[in-house]
Amino acid sequence: MSMRTHWCGELRTEHVGEEVALCGWVSRRREHGEHLAFVDVRDRTGIVQCVVDNAHDLRSEFVVRVSGTVRHRLEGTVNDKLATGEIELQDCTVEVLNRADPPPFPLDERTDVDEAVRLRHRYLDLRRSRLQRNLEIRARVNSAIRAAMERQGFTEVETPLLMPSTPEGAREFLVPSRQVPGSFYALPQSPQLFKQLLMVAGTERYYQIARCLRDEDLRADRQFEFTQLDLEMSFVDQDDVLAAVSEAVLDAAEAITGHRPDDIPQMTWHDAMDRYGSDKPDLRFGMELQELTELFAGTGFQAFASAAAIKGLRVPGQGDLGRKKLDALTDDAKQLGAKGLVWMRVREGGDLESPVTKFLSETELKAVVDATGAEAGDLLLLVADEWHTTCEVLGGLRNQVGRPPVSQGPFRYVWIVDFPMFVGVDATTGTPKPAHHPFTRPHPDDLDRLESDPMDVRSKAYDLVLNGWELGSGSLRIHEPELQQRVFSLLGISPEEADRRFGFFLNPFRFGAPPHGGFGMGMDRLVAILAGEDNIREVIAFPKPQSGADPMTGAPTTADDKQLAELGLRLLPPKA
Ligand code: AMO
Ligand code: AMP
Repeated sequence: MSMRTHWCGELRTEHVGEEVALCGWVSRRREHGEHLAFVDVRDRTGIVQCVVDNAHDLRSEFVVRVSGTVRHRLEGTVNDKLATGEIELQDCTVEVLNRADPPPFPLDERTDVDEAVRLRHRYLDLRRSRLQRNLEIRARVNSAIRAAMERQGFTEVETPLLMPSTPEGAREFLVPSRQVPGSFYALPQSPQLFKQLLMVAGTERYYQIARCLRDEDLRADRQFEFTQLDLEMSFVDQDDVLAAVSEAVLDAAEAITGHRPDDIPQMTWHDAMDRYGSDKPDLRFGMELQELTELFAGTGFQAFASAAAIKGLRVPGQGDLGRKKLDALTDDAKQLGAKGLVWMRVREGGDLESPVTKFLSETELKAVVDATGAEAGDLLLLVADEWHTTCEVLGGLRNQVGRPPVSQGPFRYVWIVDFPMFVGVDATTGTPKPAHHPFTRPHPDDLDRLESDPMDVRSKAYDLVLNGWELGSGSLRIHEPELQQRVFSLLGISPEEADRRFGFFLNPFRFGAPPHGGFGMGMDRLVAILAGEDNIREVIAFPKPQSGADPMTGAPTTADDKQLAELGLRLLPPKA
């Protein structure tokens, strides 16, 4: 007999009477009288109950091979929570293949274990079925995506990890060079520059499931190292790129959930901001922002009198929120950039209770109720500011009061299109900041206003959003060196500086760069949501905790003097 004839999780009543051999770990042992014990044996597919004589020496997580005969469980002992719950193994011979120290935490699904402990012993954490399942889902998503890309004529190409520094917004990880002491490689924030060079090279349709590295503060949707479905296409317009990405994403969703989502709708960035106060709107719930600016034209209320945009958020049924919670919401609004927050409780008959009613006319109060559709028992939140701030603050509050956990169904995908070219200005240089990256193509209809009115120029950039998470971003690119320099000039980058910093990237564009565009999608985020997880750490085999330091390997670690000398580095004393 081979070492293993079956997986634990596949045994059913149809196997009754068969002699089988299983391999795995002892999950649990229950004594049954003096000599008999029930031993649960677990492998990556599931658990089987084995009836064992003299199991006294078996301990949790011992590695065993069990051979025995499958039989029906006795009546009344069937476990319908277990896929194998109708059968058990009898007449078992147990071979201990290896012993195990007692695990630092029980490897069942019920026990809530501190994350630091889980990550310190990730190899044990991963033995649990939830994480085994997540890794499997991840592999299936990868393979569905690869199949979709290949079917659409994309070629998988690997790009370098050691590369020069590039301007993509995030802080980079640097790697000191031994051969050229004092100089550094940067690890890629994404393969952006190389994939565009592949378009110059005539690859036409490139993709890669690419590891990207960014030295960012870690959060539920952020790791230092993460994985993108990265792609680039030549001779395409925006809809071609969206279609190619949609195909891959919908295939992946179907592979995991068994259900193909509808075609993904599009929404302009302006609409998303105006209606949901976010460029990654969560469409699983309504609570759209209500436009109130006109209604307060000529108001006597100081805070609203000169505001460019006044909007309201109706929070159904939350009119009984206590003062403490309302004060906390006001603080949140200020954190989000508001000057203040007006709240109003809607009473029976449509009367409003608010600290500011005394500043508002009867007509204004009634108009607010009408415009928001507010009903008795609702709470209204009003903000007055510049359009962008008003939207963003109320969008933030909308998420706080209404947003379910990201992985909770239904899945609502949306393409956000027509992003602005720039958002805000750099505090030190006073130049506009690119909303995506500086290689993004300005919208052709706005090109003539690039210099005169840059903050009002749209771009050919787009994001894919799922349940309020940005799944990915992309754009059509600039392929003409002259246009690229116009954008660089706006960013305060002279031709000389552009040549020095990105010459290796820009000069090739003089040799016949085709029009092109592409996309980068966060695989960790997509997999997390498809797996029903709210944190991407749960779908990464060996993630970093929020501190960034790996409690299992101890990374990052110090380098010894010899290594440092070889790299031409000397450490400064640690900061006090
Ligand atoms: P962008 O910087 O928007 O675009 O990144 C694309 C997607 O990558 C994911 N992502 C992350 N996931 C986990 N942890 C992180 N630290 C992290 N940072 C980003 C997100 C994000 O939407 N080169 C462009 C794409 C292009 O223009 O083609 C780019 O990287 O899901
Ligand atoms: P003030 O006149 O500044 O004392 O503000 C009166 C009320 O209006 C307070 O509840 C403030 O939080 C609120 N408020 C002030 N400015 C704004 C604003 N721009 N948008 C919304 N509410 C505001």
